[in-house]
Amino acid sequence: MKTPSSTDLAWLGEHAAAHLPAQVRLRADGPLTGTIGSEIDRLRSLAPGVPGSLTLLDLPQARASTLDDAPFEELAAAGEEAYALRSRGDGSDRGDDSAGDASSARLEVIGGGARGLLYGFYAVVLGLAPAPSGAWTIHSPGNSIRMLDHWDNMIVHPAMGQVERGYAGGSLFYEDGELREDLTRVEHYSRLLASVGINRVAINNVNVHAREATLLTERLGSVVRLAEIFRAQGIAVFLSVSFASPITLGGLATSDPLDEGVQAWWRRVADAVYAAIPDFGGFVVKADSEGQPGPFAYGRDHADGANLLARALAPHGGEVFWRAFVYDHRQDWRDRSTDRARAAYDHFAPLDRRFDDNVIVQVKHGPLDFQTREAVSPVIGAMPTTRLAVELQVTQEYTGQQKHVCYLAPWWSENLRFPSGEDDAPTMAQIAAGSAERPGGMVAVSNVGDDEFWTGHPLAQSNLFALGRLAWDWTADADSILDEWISATFGVDQAVRSTLRELLAESWLLYESYTAPLGVGFMVRPGHHYGPDVDGYEYTPWGTYHFADRDGIGVDRTVATGTGYAGLYPEPWASVYESVDTCPDELLLFFHHVPYTQRLHSGKTVIQHIYDSRADGYERVLQLRPRWQQLAGLVPGPLHERVTTLLIEQERSAGEWRDQLRTYFHRASGIADETGRPIY
Ligand code: GCU
Repeated sequence: MKTPSSTDLAWLGEHAAAHLPAQVRLRADGPLTGTIGSEIDRLRSLAPGVPGSLTLLDLPQARASTLDDAPFEELAAAGEEAYALRSRGDGSDRGDDSAGDASSARLEVIGGGARGLLYGFYAVVLGLAPAPSGAWTIHSPGNSIRMLDHWDNMIVHPAMGQVERGYAGGSLFYEDGELREDLTRVEHYSRLLASVGINRVAINNVNVHAREATLLTERLGSVVRLAEIFRAQGIAVFLSVSFASPITLGGLATSDPLDEGVQAWWRRVADAVYAAIPDFGGFVVKADSEGQPGPFAYGRDHADGANLLARALAPHGGEVFWRAFVYDHRQDWRDRSTDRARAAYDHFAPLDRRFDDNVIVQVKHGPLDFQTREAVSPVIGAMPTTRLAVELQVTQEYTGQQKHVCYLAPWWSENLRFPSGEDDAPTMAQIAAGSAERPGGMVAVSNVGDDEFWTGHPLAQSNLFALGRLAWDWTADADSILDEWISATFGVDQAVRSTLRELLAESWLLYESYTAPLGVGFMVRPGHHYGPDVDGYEYTPWGTYHFADRDGIGVDRTVATGTGYAGLYPEPWASVYESVDTCPDELLLFFHHVPYTQRLHSGKTVIQHIYDSRADGYERVLQLRPRWQQLAGLVPGPLHERVTTLLIEQERSAGEWRDQLRTYFHRASGIADETGRPIY
């Protein structure tokens, strides 16, 4: 078995040979036009000589073929990213050069367009789509936007490193301040992304530093090269741009969105980009956020800012992803009236209807910042006429930094399935997906770097895979996705499968159990955000407080006595969150400041919950390594070794979380742990 880091054409070919029940042979059916077409031709040439066959046709080819019972009209209606799939076992069908060989299975894939055909191919190879014998099934994505954002810098940043919040080595794209010469791994990566349906990628950090800003102008050639690679996988390339570019790159005196010189500058720049990359995706913008420049400097709002760029891109069909992550990061911790959780809502909800059609407002799934647990962002339900994308974080900034096992799909699923109101109200995922006229979707921050296993922790690949699968179909079950990933990566050995399932399936809840209690966040070391530091952010300007004192803990976000944040939700949620009695335990401290003796629905007091879950969580972490040891010899050696090393670190870190939090809250509350377990 190959290691997952060798995911490439050869690997896919071997995989097809090793794992497909139908033992497909990939049969060429004539050239397609366009660059994805040439990629499909390459895929078709894989694994020749394996019995059986796989027929790959685009819609016009299929219509002209002998497959006259195919669902052409339904497929055309499902769009160019859809595909139709059928398997047949008798091999006696018309037009098949294996006709007559009754033992050979046969799979037929028709793409709604070239991308659909590509997705169909990968679905077959990775076993992602069932192909019932004899009947056609049509598969199409639930979101038209399925995007990854890279927070890669060209130059290693003194505090953030080369990939901001990156835990998998340096950048796949850049080295020593320039695009890498050898982009072979980017080619493999682009296939990896297409195989789970990603169709957009942003190639630089949203915090745009001086060198990276020049990708828009003097280093556009680097973007051209990356766009060539991603294009062959049907993936559009986007750039993060600085709102101040007219000043810093253009030499203008202002970047005021209402200034005609500024508007003309952006138009000129966009024209030049599209002259070089006709299918360029567009821009990602972090404005007026954590020190990034934005429209506020000119007394303008975020619709003015976003529309400025949107109008420069519109003639070329480009899009602006404008981030709603806007809050005051210079807050006075003594000021109890300002609530960071409200900020995105307060800035953006009033702007609904103001954004141009090619603006997508990109909203973090929670109101704070990718915590292990937080409420769902109320912004998503508050902008019905705006195109939206939910932003998730695949890179594990607050969830173990790819040192801890933490499979995030259950957490994302919970957020995506969150109903925006009573009864049949649409879920967060449905709202974000939008409509055919105003399509939205999902964006996520990538967890990939130049590490040999792609993601630092080899098991963190499951998160990248799951992100793609959920972006394709938000209703997919997190456990089933995990099974798909295990099969596609490690094959079908039952011992391997059950061990990996045990390690990963509930790992997010396990991580939560020894780290952030009951929806309180940010008890991490400032700066790098790894490891416990209960008061690390307590007296800082970042707006991330837990307000723990000798009597109690939590943030009062109620309408009655707090910041009013709970009232930003539609019913039933406004009422559910407003009351301590109905607020779910796991979000209690997110919405309420309560005494340590407050009883949870679980029957425990808050303080005893804090004591117990940290100690129990640590004990469960200790069970992971012996379980993993059983796979020695069953998975590739270097991979086994890497995971073992990381499990040792996870044990150390979980012990630190346990001891620091138990001790801190004992000292704060003076209340004994009724189990008598050690406190320092
Ligand atoms: C977090 C993260 C930053 C990042 C920011 C963002 O705050 O710590 O590194 O820049 O999110 O999403 O823009």
